[in-house]
Amino acid sequence: MEHPISRIAMLVFVLMSCLLVGSHPMQPSATTFVSYLFALTWPPSACASTIRCKSSQPPIHFTIHGLWPQDGSYRGVRPYKKNRQCSTLPVLWPSDIIQLKMLDGNLEKQLNQSWPNLKDDNLNVIFWLDEWAKHGMCSDYGDNPVAYFSTAINLSNNVVSGLNLVPGIADTVDNIANTVYKQVKGRPVIHCVTRRASASASASAQKLLGELRFCYKKGHLTIQNCTRLYSGDCNSGRDSITLL
Ligand SMILES: *[C@@H]1O[C@H](CO)[C@@H](O)[C@H](O)[C@H]1NC(C)=O
Ligand SMILES: *[C@@H]1O[C@H](CO)[C@@H](O)[C@H](O)[C@H]1NC(C)=O
Ligand SMILES: *[C@@H]1O[C@H](CO)[C@@H](O)[C@H](O)[C@H]1NC(C)=O
Repeated sequence: MEHPISRIAMLVFVLMSCLLVGSHPMQPSATTFVSYLFALTWPPSACASTIRCKSSQPPIHFTIHGLWPQDGSYRGVRPYKKNRQCSTLPVLWPSDIIQLKMLDGNLEKQLNQSWPNLKDDNLNVIFWLDEWAKHGMCSDYGDNPVAYFSTAINLSNNVVSGLNLVPGIADTVDNIANTVYKQVKGRPVIHCVTRRASASASASAQKLLGELRFCYKKGHLTIQNCTRLYSGDCNSGRDSITLL
């Protein structure tokens, strides 16, 4: 005769299996993650539009906003790793990063230079952790923050050294995209922002080049043409934008 305890154990086992299966909703297949969008901010434009910046002069070079896993339609990829939602991974806090020596001194120095937090109320490390939690944990480097951050630094070093845009220029989105293509062999998404209203009303609607966003193929991280030409506040390739 079967012992009732084993029946109960079996029932509990079956129930738990159901619960476990139920707690893993359908994951989008890994193939939806096809590329990275690598966003570089032009700080003077960002500080004149979308961001309240620190009072010190913003850097006059492109700085990293983020390295974002994307699907084929430029949608950010959330739960990339199979059976593991990005949002349920433990988020690293500044003290953890320091304690775990996630960032060695040299990497931190490079991040300070290339990936500063322009906002007036926040530390650099807060920005890095925010990007890590939103995008890094969903990337190919989901369990290796050092690789994620140093990959971003490497991409930045490569692409920024090739860029040669003169501050003060005003040109069409099309022309700027072509100029950038010639310089770095990848056509970017031009992310436009609008200058904040100021005392001079004529300047209030001025469109600015806020960011250049580059497309990299997942895997070998080769630069490709982005298929989208602009995002943000531009409506056409003929819109005129200024690099402050
Ligand atoms: C990075 O910047 C922070 C804040 O500005 C500073 O406290 C820290 O010492 C810098 N780290 C390195 C390695 O330069
Ligand atoms: C970044 O570049 C350095 C120097 O070229 C290289 O040693 C390192 O492996 C690269 N890191 C990554 C994550 O690709
Ligand atoms: C990328 O874009 C540039 C400029 O728009 C174009 O000349 C080039 O042929 C494109 N390359 C590919 C591989 O589509």
